[in-house]
Amino acid sequence: MSLKESSRKIIVTSALPYANASLHLGNILELVQTDIWVRFQRLIGNECTYVCADDAHGTPIMLKAEELNKSPETLIQEVYKDHKETFDLFNISTDNFYTTHSDENRELSELIFNQLNQNGLIETRTIKQLYDAEKGMFLSDRYIKGTCPKCESTDQYGDNCEVCSATYDATELIDPISVLSKTTPEIRDTEHLFFRLSTLKDSIHEWISNSSVQSQVINKLSEWLDGDLRDWDISRDEPYFGFPIPGHKGKYFYVWVDAPIGYLASHKNYLNKNQRNDEFSDYWNPDTSSELYHFIGKDIMYFHTLFFPAMLRHSNFRSPTGVFVHGFLTINGEKMSKSRGTFILAKTYLDNLDSEYLRYFYATKLGPGIDDIDLNLEDFKQRVNTDLVGKFVNIGSRSAKFINKDFNNLLASELHEPELLKEFLKTSLEIKTLYEARDFNKAMREIMALADKANQYIDKMEPWVISKQDPKDKLVHQICTTSLNLFRILAIMLTPVLPELTNKISTFLNEDKFTWDSIDKNLLGHNIRQFKPLLGRIEDKSITQLIKSTE
Ligand code: 2FM
Ligand code: ZN
Repeated sequence: MSLKESSRKIIVTSALPYANASLHLGNILELVQTDIWVRFQRLIGNECTYVCADDAHGTPIMLKAEELNKSPETLIQEVYKDHKETFDLFNISTDNFYTTHSDENRELSELIFNQLNQNGLIETRTIKQLYDAEKGMFLSDRYIKGTCPKCESTDQYGDNCEVCSATYDATELIDPISVLSKTTPEIRDTEHLFFRLSTLKDSIHEWISNSSVQSQVINKLSEWLDGDLRDWDISRDEPYFGFPIPGHKGKYFYVWVDAPIGYLASHKNYLNKNQRNDEFSDYWNPDTSSELYHFIGKDIMYFHTLFFPAMLRHSNFRSPTGVFVHGFLTINGEKMSKSRGTFILAKTYLDNLDSEYLRYFYATKLGPGIDDIDLNLEDFKQRVNTDLVGKFVNIGSRSAKFINKDFNNLLASELHEPELLKEFLKTSLEIKTLYEARDFNKAMREIMALADKANQYIDKMEPWVISKQDPKDKLVHQICTTSLNLFRILAIMLTPVLPELTNKISTFLNEDKFTWDSIDKNLLGHNIRQFKPLLGRIEDKSITQLIKSTE
């Protein structure tokens, strides 16, 4: 390992899920993508801290709690527990899974706000907003419907028309109605606080050119930056579930202010829990040498590439090293939809199938771009059965049986085909580069091509034929030792994707946890354990049952 690699300190985040619903397979796509990258970083010896949290604030959570007749605090605690369980069941290796409704987050949100204010970047303005007198609250666009002021289509939301695509201000809607009380809202004046983003174009440009952002994302960003970059309304009126804005009675931080600050708060809480309080500023000061990456979906690019870096830069914090955007998940080619039965909850999946299957399938689909990813269930079954069971696990089972049965679990002291190992090791360097670049689908293809080679080698050598003549033949011993060493290399390369399966393999090989560094170590004259079945095939009935339970 080079010195540079060993010295990398990295913080990684996944987007914070809202604390009002269980996680679905779209959430899991992002978590698996992040987790593979994080596990890879740790495997090659970097210090990689993965933090996440529940996104606990905002009107939808407040209203959901009201509907369920419980306090928002109770609701977010219940959802937190559910989310945490799902993270664990999919082996998402966060170092800290926290909540944005925390003291650390309140303090950091206030601090960042005060610093922006001191830097002249907060402005108070009076705006006109629709007010639901029956509910006693101002209405955000999603809670207002009416007739489009441009094309006069009825039943359109408060910010844009789905028929003619016009965007407008909710106060311009004809015959507006509050979705909450079905009454006609009134227009009222209210004071709001704005973050003066429009003054920061140059600063945002500078951040983009110094950061790792995908080209498709830069294109989108340039469109925004070349257009009319407006100041950002960061306050909401009470009643609101969130943090009060200091010095502004009745005003709260908009949820999208304290949500990304939740990344910092989760990291701070993690350090505090580990008696490392004094390290926080090492990671978050503007001159830090540590790296910070956010994995997000393409629907929330705006917040992560414009607002958040600008907020951090202008409040004396470091900004992200990179933002890694992924596409949406479709199921059998369709958008996830409850009515079409393609809305699959993570726990429904787990009731029917193993988490490792999905982790692998997602890896075969994920690349560095932002294209959507399809979970075609037939393709999923084929891929897993062909690659993982038919190719990979098969190498171990067909070789281990001779070592276990005829050689007293002891590997030979010499390889039969050292050249083949060399070839695998050479390819491992490419695979390392592919993981780093988040090109997991190419990495999986390369790994499976190597698995094919290992199987072809065993097919060609036919150890079972030699064994029939003489079960203790030295050649059988060396062939199976060679193929188990190939199996080991593949297992190390698959460790970021398949933590459970590869953990069973390191146990079977009687080794400590795998590290990438040990990939070139040959296991010779080494005792292994009894091979146990590692992973079964996906049966048709599991898929049928999964579909049935989502209907
Ligand atoms: O879009 C969402 O689901 C948000 N809850 C993501 C927040 S990410 C971060 F900024 F907190
Ligand atoms: Zn319209």
